[in-house]
Amino acid sequence: MGKTFKPVLIILVLFSLHISSSYGQSSCANYNFARNQVFRFCNDLPYLNSFLHWNYDQSAKTVKIAYRHTGVSSSRWVAWAINPTGRGMVGAQALVAFQKADGTMRAYTAPVSGYQTQLQEGDLSFPVSDLSATYARNEMIIFATLKLDNLSSTVNQVWQEGPVSGDSPAMHSTTGPNVQSTGNLNLLSGATGTTGGAIHGLLNAVSWGILLPIGAVFARYLKVFPSADPAWFYLHAICQSSAYIIGVAGWATGLRLGSQSPGVQYTSHRIIGIVLFCLGTLQVSALLLRPKKEHKHRFYWNIYHHCIGYSVIVLSIINIFKGFDILNPQEKWKTAYIGILIGLAIVATILEVYTWFVVVKRKKSSSPHKMQNGVNGTNGYNGYGARSQDRV
Ligand code: HEM
Repeated sequence: MGKTFKPVLIILVLFSLHISSSYGQSSCANYNFARNQVFRFCNDLPYLNSFLHWNYDQSAKTVKIAYRHTGVSSSRWVAWAINPTGRGMVGAQALVAFQKADGTMRAYTAPVSGYQTQLQEGDLSFPVSDLSATYARNEMIIFATLKLDNLSSTVNQVWQEGPVSGDSPAMHSTTGPNVQSTGNLNLLSGATGTTGGAIHGLLNAVSWGILLPIGAVFARYLKVFPSADPAWFYLHAICQSSAYIIGVAGWATGLRLGSQSPGVQYTSHRIIGIVLFCLGTLQVSALLLRPKKEHKHRFYWNIYHHCIGYSVIVLSIINIFKGFDILNPQEKWKTAYIGILIGLAIVATILEVYTWFVVVKRKKSSSPHKMQNGVNGTNGYNGYGARSQDRV
């Protein structure tokens, strides 16, 4: 067993480290602003050649931003907005910029109350200062400082570009990327709904949150059937090892997200993550370090392996929900995850009932021989497991 798994494990660990180290490299990180302005965080926005750079001052509750839009001609307007009330354009508190006919730049604020907006200048729902814009080499940049007293650290952002007509912005295209340019922004961690945070969330939800319980289901329910021995063990081991590998990759992406924001910690999420990593490592080491099935302490080892196993599953699920709270993804992701958990719980309940049924039936039919064969003697299928055939 150890011989087969060791090289696979090593390859997978290396692969997971590769994923975690390469995903975070974004092109915005290499950008240098004029006049030595330095922004601590940045994100490559996924549509419309856009980049957001920012500094967040948590105590003053201010965010200094630079919204950069490349490949844009001088007859276009660009805009970036926070939407405190929803996900799309309506409700957006926009910063708008374009070049006027006289060649000077206009940068102003415009709250968007509906799709018929003409982007008239107006106050936003939060104070904005130091608003300015530049245009050079087909690149428009809006600079501003926002005071966000009442907003949470994760906000909805929207960005856009469209034509300028007679020194006013006209309607943007309403197809393709122009209607996809919305997302989340985590001001504290630098995570957006589309990049690092999503990868972290997905890897962890799939591994710790889905594969791990499935692997436990294999062990708990297949074990009862003599014909599934040792297949259940292989399924369990493969499922849990791959969950662990993907989980470690997810965990490492989380460390990277965290290291982008020193001073800001989601303490309980982080502590549970570290505990999970340790317990998960312990569980996977069972592949190589478990007492032989005949060993006199094997019974106690099984209890230990089960207790840690179930604790890891419970902690993982708790931590995934904590992650949802931090990343604040679209509701559909949380719903999908809850749906998968409910599905797994239903399958497990049905299997639990069925297993008891099989075990009780088997116990009844085998009880006359019990004295001769002993508890485990009849077919000896429980070699890898904790349970004798009479127990569930
Ligand atoms: C000149 C002013 C604007 C007009 C007339 C306008 C008009 C519209 C219309 C009619 C739609 C609906 C398209 C559809 O679903 O068929 C739309 C969508 C959208 N607009 Fe605008 N818009 C303007 C400015 C802005 C600004 C300033 C932003 C962002 C800062 C923006 C971001 C979006 C986004 C992301 C969508 C797609 C998501 C949604 O429907 O909310 N728009 N716009």
